[in-house]
Amino acid sequence: MAEMSKNLSRFSFPTTSLFGVGAVRELPSQLQQMGCRRPLVVTDPGLLKTKAFVLLEKALGVEQRGKEWSLFHGVHPNPVDQDVVDAAKAYRDGKCDSVIAFGGGSALDVGKACRLLVKRPELNIAEFKFEDDWSGLVPCVCIPTTAGTGSEVGRSSVVTLSDVKRKTVIFHPALLARLVILDPELTADLPPQLTAATGLDALTHCIESFTSPVYHPLCEGIALEGIHMIVEALPRAVKNGQDLEARGQMLVAAAMGAIAFQKDLGATHSLAHPLSSLCGMHHGTANAVCLPQVMEFNAKRKPGLYRRVGIACELDIMKATPEDADRATIEFVRRLIVELGLKMGLGNYGVNASQIDALSEQAFADGCHLTNPVPVTREDLKALYQAAL
Ligand SMILES: [Fe+2]
Repeated sequence: MAEMSKNLSRFSFPTTSLFGVGAVRELPSQLQQMGCRRPLVVTDPGLLKTKAFVLLEKALGVEQRGKEWSLFHGVHPNPVDQDVVDAAKAYRDGKCDSVIAFGGGSALDVGKACRLLVKRPELNIAEFKFEDDWSGLVPCVCIPTTAGTGSEVGRSSVVTLSDVKRKTVIFHPALLARLVILDPELTADLPPQLTAATGLDALTHCIESFTSPVYHPLCEGIALEGIHMIVEALPRAVKNGQDLEARGQMLVAAAMGAIAFQKDLGATHSLAHPLSSLCGMHHGTANAVCLPQVMEFNAKRKPGLYRRVGIACELDIMKATPEDADRATIEFVRRLIVELGLKMGLGNYGVNASQIDALSEQAFADGCHLTNPVPVTREDLKALYQAAL
């Protein structure tokens, strides 16, 4: 998609991932190979009641808790800086030597980030500097229990600074997990609505990163295959959560979506972020409701932009005009979202016209739209919210 940059490009796919049904049972031997004897499990309170957590506990040894491994389960749904501080304290109290980040994006982000405070206990997260020496962070194993954010393969953590009530993205390659375990059984009990919403976040990652102008053909290939896998597997995973084949495909595709967004994202994510922070919408749902509008906006200005996305969805549009190819692809995406049980229209989620000014303000300040395939103004974002209402 993108023009070759005049700047140098850096291509990097460094995370080892272990994938398959029952992969979590390999955790002890993997930790041993990494030389880790006392991991800290970082997760959120909701997960403690799930079958996924039982499987993790079984793998680590229930009776060994407190002896060979420690638990921190204080991660908030939208993690705050104090979560990172508390996780690092639990690490020190437990005399741990490694971190197992277990859960959705929030637990993974806190698990990755608390190692910064293990290295530098005096650090205030708000004052994190990329340029500082972050070598030698303790090893982290990321184990996702949802298939959406792909945070397990990411180099960043999103944390809200409670003082200023602002989300900050801590980005550093040192945050990367040493190992990712993708076990479809851990996602099998996720309810249909959450399966759909998180899966559509992954689809949005693939579509937006594919069309971003950043030069990275390797990621474009990954994004297209991710789209192909998601449109095939997501309806099956939503219909029957116990379909481990579909669950596995979604876990891999979600990781692929996050690998692909090394190319960055687009205007859909800029619209979605304020819908979560100001209106409390689920991130995946917010993306899904805005995605078709943004695709229409982009296609109007760059006809044919979505032809290869449509081909990845197995649409017969190879010889269609650019406009028809886009129309068929956008229609397919819209239908998929509705068939997965999501209501289109922001009004269905309590968003009203009086909020659009504040939403557009924040969406314009968000960096994701800077890599939208066509430039967007504040007025464009406002019009997109209006159209999505
Ligand atoms: Fe996302």
